Amino acid sequence: MSDNNRTSGFRTRAVHAGGGVEPRTGAHATPIYQTSTFGYFDADRGERLFGGQESGYFYTRLGNPTVRAFEEKVASLEGAEDAVAFASGMGAISALALTFLKPGDELAFLGPLYGGTEGFFHEVLEKFGVHAWEASDLADLEARVTRRVKMVYVETPTNPTLRITDLRNTARIAHSVDALAVTDNTFATPYLTRPLQHDFDVVLHSATKYLGGHGDAIGGVVVGRADAIRELRVTGLRHVGASLGPQEAYLFLRGVKTLPLRMDAHCDGAEIVARTFDGHPAIARVYYPGLSSHVGHEIAARQMKRFGGMVSFDLRGGYDAAKAFLNNLRLFVQAVSLGDVESLSCHPASTTHQLLGPDILARQGVTPGLVRLSVGIEDPEDLVLDIERALESVVSLAAD
Ligand SMILES: Cc1ncc(COP(=O)(O)O)c(C=O)c1O
Repeated sequence: MSDNNRTSGFRTRAVHAGGGVEPRTGAHATPIYQTSTFGYFDADRGERLFGGQESGYFYTRLGNPTVRAFEEKVASLEGAEDAVAFASGMGAISALALTFLKPGDELAFLGPLYGGTEGFFHEVLEKFGVHAWEASDLADLEARVTRRVKMVYVETPTNPTLRITDLRNTARIAHSVDALAVTDNTFATPYLTRPLQHDFDVVLHSATKYLGGHGDAIGGVVVGRADAIRELRVTGLRHVGASLGPQEAYLFLRGVKTLPLRMDAHCDGAEIVARTFDGHPAIARVYYPGLSSHVGHEIAARQMKRFGGMVSFDLRGGYDAAKAFLNNLRLFVQAVSLGDVESLSCHPASTTHQLLGPDILARQGVTPGLVRLSVGIEDPEDLVLDIERALESVVSLAAD
C-alpha cells in the first residue's frame, strides 16, 4: 500500500511512500520496468495519451513506473505536491533553468555553490542571455534584487565551506520581486531540512549523494507545487530529455528507505570528527555548522534537525599540507561526490571547484589548504584515528 499520508512519521514514509505490493504479481519490491516504450493497445488511447487527455505511461523518457515510485517517495519526504526525477543533479538544475528562465532574466545566487552549478550559470546561461550574479549575503541580495531577477538560488549548507543561509528570509526577498526561490537540498536532505516549510518554491537534489547513499547511481530530483513540476516535466523531459533510467530509480528507491538511519550515523560521525579536530594545531579552521563557533550555527539550529555529515578543514600548510593529509588517509577514499556510506575526501580547489579560477575561489574561502570530508557511517573512533594519523604527516611536513 502506498503511504503518502503526511501524518505518518519520516521513517515510515521513507520505507512506504511510493512503494507497496505490486497488484498484478504481488511483488513486494518495486519492479524495475526496464522498457523504453509501453503499448497503448488502441489507437484512440494513443492519441489521448499523447494529447494529455489520459494519463498513463507510453515512453520512458516521459515517465516510467519505477521512476514514478521514486518521485512519489521524495515528494512525500519533502512534503511536496509532486516531484520529477532527472538523469543527474546537473540534469535537474539545467532543466530548472531552461524551464523557468528566458533571455533578459537574471538569476541571483548566494555562493559558494557546487562548482558545476556555478559553471553552468556562468558558462551556459550567459550564452542564452540569462545573467547570473552572486550576492555576498542576504543584505546584499536584498539591496540589489530587482524584478529582472526571476530565480533566487541557494544551497544550505553550501559546498564546500558549509555556509548556512537563512531560508525563510531568502524566500521573503525572492518573493518581494516575484522570483522563484530555489534551493539545492543535497547536503541537508529532507531528513534534516524541508525548505518548502520555510516558504521555498522549488527544492532539488543530486540524488547521487545521500538519497542514493551507496555511491552506485547518478540521478537528480526536483520537488515543488504540482503546476511547477508539470512544466518542468514537459520542458525537462519531453523537450530536453535528461530522464532517469529505471535501474537507477530502483537503486534510489532502495537507498532512500534507510535515509533517516544513515543520516543519523553520518551526523554522529561528523559531529565527533568536527569536535575532536576543532583547535588542532595543523588546522586553521574547522567548518561544521554544528560547532557553536560556526557563523551560521544559530540559523542551522533553527532550520536543521541535525548538522549533517560534511566537515571541511582549512589546513595551515596550504596545498602541500592538503595533499599530504589526503594521501595519508586510509579509510577516507580520495574521490569527489559525497553522502556515500563510505567516507570520502577531496580537495575542492583542485577538483570540483577548479574551473572557477583563483579570484572566485579566494572570495568564497575555497583556499589551497581546504579539504572536504564526507563522513561515512563507519565507526567514528576509526575515522578519528585515520584523521589523526594523516594529520601527523602534515605536522611532520611543517617541521621539515
Ligand atoms: C550540492 C550539489 N549539487 C549538485 C551536484 C550535481 O549533481 P550530479 O553530479 O548528480 O549531476 C553536486 C555534485 O557533486 C553537488 O555536490
